[in-house]
Amino acid sequence: MTDTTLAEALEAEHHAIDDGIYAFLNGDADGRERLEAVFDELRRHIYLEEVYLFPPLRDAGMMAPVFVMLREHGEMWQILDQIDAALTVDPVPASSAAALCRDLLTRLDAHNSKEEPILYPELQGVLSDSAAEQYLAFLEDGERPDGWVCERAAAGPPASVPWG
Ligand SMILES: [Fe+2]
Ligand SMILES: [Fe+2]
Repeated sequence: MTDTTLAEALEAEHHAIDDGIYAFLNGDADGRERLEAVFDELRRHIYLEEVYLFPPLRDAGMMAPVFVMLREHGEMWQILDQIDAALTVDPVPASSAAALCRDLLTRLDAHNSKEEPILYPELQGVLSDSAAEQYLAFLEDGERPDGWVCERAAAGPPASVPWG
C-alpha cells in the first residue's frame, strides 16, 4: 500500500521523463543512457494510458479529451521513432536528435498540461481501488508488451520540426 495516488505517480513520471530528455540535451555524461531509459518509460506510460486508463474515462463520457490525447500520443510516438533512428545513424549526440528532442519536450508540455488537469483528476472516480493499486504497481516495474505501438502511431503526416 502506498499513499501516492495514481494521478500523482503519473505526474511524477511526466517530470522524470522530461528530466531524462534534458539530461541528454544538456550533454550529461549519462545523458544518452537516460534518454533511452525514459523513452522506454514514455512508451510504457502511453501503453498504460491507452490500454487501461483511457477506456474507462471514455466510457465515463470523456470522449473528446481522450481523442486529443490519442492523437498527440501518435505524433509523439513518431518522434520517438525518429529520434531512435537519428541516434542509430549518428550515435554521438546528433543535432537532428537534439532538435527532435526539443520538439518532443514542447509536445509533452502541451500534452501533459491538458492530461494532468482534465483527465487524471477523473481517474479516481472511474477506477476501483484495486485497479488503481495495480496500475501504481505497473508504474514501478510493469512492462509494455513486445511490439505494442500506440493506437495512432501510424496516423497523420510525419512529425515536423518547424524550427529545427
Ligand atoms: Fe501521461
Ligand atoms: Fe498521455
